Amino acid sequence: MSYSLFSKSFIFTAREDPKAAECDSQRFLLKGCYLFMLSSGIYSYLPLGRRVLEKISMIIRKHMNSAGAQELLMSALQPIEIWKKTGRDKILEEVMFKFIDRKKRTLCLGPTHEEVITEIVRKYASSYKQLPFTLYQIQTKFRDEPRPRFGLVRSCEFIMKDAYSFDGDEEGLNVSYEKMLKAYRSIFTECGLQFVMTEADSGAMGGSVSHEFLVLSPVGEDILFYCRGCGHYYRQEQDCPQCKSKTEEKRMIEVGHIFKLGTKYSAAQNAVFLDRQGQRRPVVMGCYGIGVSRLLPAIIEQNFDAKGIIWPEAISPFDLTLIVLDESLLNEAISFAQILEREDIDTLIDDRNDNAGVKFNDAGLIGSPYTAIMGKNYLHDGKIEVEVRKTKERISLSKEEFINFLKEKNNEKK
Ligand SMILES: Nc1ncnc2c1ncn2[C@@H]1O[C@H](COP(=O)(O)OP(=O)(O)OP(=O)(O)O)[C@@H](O)[C@H]1O
Ligand SMILES: [Mg+2]
Ligand SMILES: [Zn+2]
Repeated sequence: MSYSLFSKSFIFTAREDPKAAECDSQRFLLKGCYLFMLSSGIYSYLPLGRRVLEKISMIIRKHMNSAGAQELLMSALQPIEIWKKTGRDKILEEVMFKFIDRKKRTLCLGPTHEEVITEIVRKYASSYKQLPFTLYQIQTKFRDEPRPRFGLVRSCEFIMKDAYSFDGDEEGLNVSYEKMLKAYRSIFTECGLQFVMTEADSGAMGGSVSHEFLVLSPVGEDILFYCRGCGHYYRQEQDCPQCKSKTEEKRMIEVGHIFKLGTKYSAAQNAVFLDRQGQRRPVVMGCYGIGVSRLLPAIIEQNFDAKGIIWPEAISPFDLTLIVLDESLLNEAISFAQILEREDIDTLIDDRNDNAGVKFNDAGLIGSPYTAIMGKNYLHDGKIEVEVRKTKERISLSKEEFINFLKEKNNEKK
C-alpha cells in the first residue's frame, strides 16, 4: 500500500455518535468512516474498512497457503438442484435467499459452499493419486438472518473464508484437520485476538467432530462458562472439575468453526475416487470457516478506549497517523512518508486545515498504533512527537530515530 493525504481521502469522520450503533465496535466503525450502513444487516466497506479487510485477508492467505491450501473463487449464484442432493435445501431454507431467473431456474445466493465444492471435486478427483488437497476462498456469503445485529457481527451479506479438505480416509482427514487447526491459531494470534477454542456441535453441517474459535465480548451471542480459578472455559455450566471453583457465564463471538464432515456430502453428491485396490469410495471431507468481516468488530471489541479504536499493528489500515501542524512542513512530511513506504510502513498524513484538537481526536478514533506530530518542535529542533495509541506513552524522536523505531516494530510484526 502507500501513504495517503487525509485532505484527499474519502475519510469523513462524524463528531456525534451515530444513532444506529448497537455496540462499541459498530459505533466506531460508523463514526470513523470505515463502514456505511445501507439498511439493517447490509453494509458497504469504505476505503478505511476495505484496507482492514485486506490486511486480515492477507494474514489468512499467508497461513492457509503455508498449510498447503490452494485458493479458488466460487460463484455466489447456486442452482437449487445441488442442494436437493444433500437435503439442505430444506435444512437451510429459512436463511437462503432464493429466487427464480428468466429461464425459470431456481437459484440461491450461496449461504455456504459445501455443495458447490463437492460438485467441483466430483468432476476432477477420480483417483487416490490426486488426494489429499485443501481448497479455500475468501468470498461473500448471503444469509437471511432472522436477527441481523451488532453491525458486521451478524449481517445478511458477509465475507467468509471457507476451506474444504479432501482425503482418502479418516486418518488423512485427521492430518488435514490438524493442519487447519494450527493455521487457525496462528491467524487469530496474528490478528491480535485473545481467543478460546472449544469442541462444539456440528449443527446443520453434519459430521462428527468440530471446534469453535471464540472471542470474549459482551455482544457475543454464544455463551461459555469460565472458571476464574484456573482460567478454563466450558460449554456447560458446572463446578470446575479441575479446581472445584464455580464457573461464571461469559458472552463470546464465534469467529471460526471447523468440522470433520466425513462422507456426508461426497456420498450424497457421488464424489467418489478409486482407491489403491481399485475400489470406488466417497472422498472424506472437512470444512473450515472464518468470519472475515466479523473479525473487524471482534478485534475492535477487544481493542478500544473512550476515543476510539486501538488497532493491533498487523490489522491497522495505516501504521501511522502523521499530523502536520504547520503548512510549511507538508513537503517534509511527504518525503518522510515516502521513506517509510519503502519499508512497507503506511502513513496517513493529516494535512487538513483543521486545528490540532480535531486532528488528534480523529487520530484516536481511526486508531493507528502510532500518532506522530510535526509541528513547532520539529521546526525548532527537528523532533517528532510520537504517541503510542495503546499506552498513551509519548516520546520525542528525530526523523532517523523514528524511522529505526518503526522499522524495528515492523520486523517484530513479521
Ligand atoms: N450472519 C453472519 N454475519 C457475519 N459473520 C457470520 C455470519 N454467520 C456466520 N458468520 C461467520 O462465518 C463463520 C463460518 O460460518 P458458519 O456457518 O460456521 O457460522 P454459524 O454457525 O452459522 O455462525 P453463527 O452461529 O454465529 O450464526 C462463523 O464462524 C462466523 O464467524
Ligand atoms: Mg448462523
Ligand atoms: Zn477451574
